Amino acid sequence: MAVSATATHEEPRVVLSARGLTKHFGAFAAVKNVDLDVEHARVHALIGPNGAGKTTVFNLLTKFLQPTAGSITLLGSDITKTAPDKVARMGLVRSFQISAVFPHLTVLDNVRVALQRPNNLATQFWLPMSSLDRLNARADELIEAVGLKRERDALAADLSYGRKRVLEIATTLALDPKVLLLDEPMAGMGQEDIGTVSNIIREVAKTRAVLMVEHNLSVVADICHHVTVLQRGEILAEGDYATVSQDERVRLAYMGSEDA
Ligand SMILES: Nc1ncnc2c1ncn2[C@@H]1O[C@H](COP(=O)(O)OP(=O)(O)OP(=O)(O)O)[C@@H](O)[C@H]1O
Ligand SMILES: [Mg+2]
Repeated sequence: MAVSATATHEEPRVVLSARGLTKHFGAFAAVKNVDLDVEHARVHALIGPNGAGKTTVFNLLTKFLQPTAGSITLLGSDITKTAPDKVARMGLVRSFQISAVFPHLTVLDNVRVALQRPNNLATQFWLPMSSLDRLNARADELIEAVGLKRERDALAADLSYGRKRVLEIATTLALDPKVLLLDEPMAGMGQEDIGTVSNIIREVAKTRAVLMVEHNLSVVADICHHVTVLQRGEILAEGDYATVSQDERVRLAYMGSEDA
């Protein structure tokens, strides 16, 4: 299914940006002078060979690592010095951060647990039952949205690997992120689950920004509006998939390590 580069009629809007982002580990520069603009209602891919610095960029954006130089802006606020938990509360959510799937809870209960966080229901135990009902309705909505309706009452432990990752995405969405960061969401999945997760990401990105690291280039071609290629910590190329995949430098960077 093709997605046009103009998936909505809204003006593209930068929700997350980095300027001159740089990270040194001792004398080694893992990320060098990276500029990045992530837009609302777009799926943005960050690709590049192993060790290119993709995960480090994610760690910098989510503030798990402090940059050596450069600045980061989220929804108009400078977050260069903001603590990671605050950044998450502002709406920048990385899938694995909060995606603890509890194996001995059902799918429904996993989603309900995740939903309690943004609504602060965990500390408001005196709330009337009707507010829990509202939570149930939202949980069922999310479960249906990611296609886990049949597994609603199954234990998370009994789900296949791919379905567990789909559940993780549902628990991430429960936090209602404005910008969603996914580090290799398709890793280890079979073709069927890849199709399912691709559809979910496409759907999710209609109302928020998605930045994803992805090694599977056919997924990138299929669902990503914009691609940034990193190599040895630096931006090598940028543009839509058709443009970057024809770039000779990108082909060279991938030679031998990818099926590009
Ligand atoms: N905490 C650290 N200390 C020292 N070096 C690090 C640290 N984290 C990452 N690196 C190095 O920085 C470089 C970039 O690593 P990073 O994990 O960001 O790459 P990546 O693009 O995510 O690779 P992959 O595709 O394999 O996941 C690598 O050479 C890695 O060894
Ligand atoms: Mg990585």
